Amino acid sequence: MYFDVEQIPTSHNYKLLVGLVAPRPIALITSMDENGHLNAAPFSAYNYLCTDPPIVAIGVTNRPGQPAVPKDTARNIRRTGEFVVNIVTEDIAEKMNICATDFPPEMSEVELAGFTTTPSLKVKPPRLAQAHAAMECVEHTTLEIGRSRIILGRVVSFYVEDQFVDAEGPYIKADELHSIGRMNGLGNYVRTRDAFMSIPRISYAEWQTKKR
Ligand SMILES: Cc1cc2nc3c(=O)[nH]c(=O)nc-3n(C[C@H](O)[C@H](O)[C@H](O)COP(=O)(O)O)c2cc1C
Repeated sequence: MYFDVEQIPTSHNYKLLVGLVAPRPIALITSMDENGHLNAAPFSAYNYLCTDPPIVAIGVTNRPGQPAVPKDTARNIRRTGEFVVNIVTEDIAEKMNICATDFPPEMSEVELAGFTTTPSLKVKPPRLAQAHAAMECVEHTTLEIGRSRIILGRVVSFYVEDQFVDAEGPYIKADELHSIGRMNGLGNYVRTRDAFMSIPRISYAEWQTKKR
């Protein structure tokens, strides 16, 4: 079955993309407006793009309707240039989901979700104390494309709870961190607990030996 993007409604692009680009990591982003008002919201149009420099990308769709109104996260990052990516693990999944609720501005999703905060090292927005790892970022570029914004953030500091760091690498003990991923549809996720498989890389020399 083919779907010609010029012939299908935009909502179908969403359904097809989230089913095919899955599982996706989730960035639970804390950001602040010019007055220091804290905001937290999850985004799964998210990944790292390069490591030198360390750049992450987040896709934020504007709110529905005209004129285009950006989501608070995108607006805050454009105005203040800083944000924190809190890593979403199994134990904070329900709290993360509460942060996606469209509460009125006077209500704090951070408090309602049961999160508390801890100061960041290099940026003004705090990280979430219940997140086991977080990346402090400064805005590199925001691209406005159609109804969406693509935010490129440069990571300026990594925070990881000691128990999840193998200092030798340093490697992240990802099989102990229990991050979750987002799948198709609105409420579907995957666990990573007991789900790892290992496929060692093969050098050309090994490849040649194996073939004989
Ligand atoms: C797991 C999850 C992932 C999400 N990913 C995105 C995303 O990638 N882009 C987006 O625009 N909205 C995404 N959303 C919806 C936003 O989190 C939601 O619109 C939120 O209210 C935005 O909050 P804000 O206005 O405070 O930034 C996601 C929601 C959930 C629960």
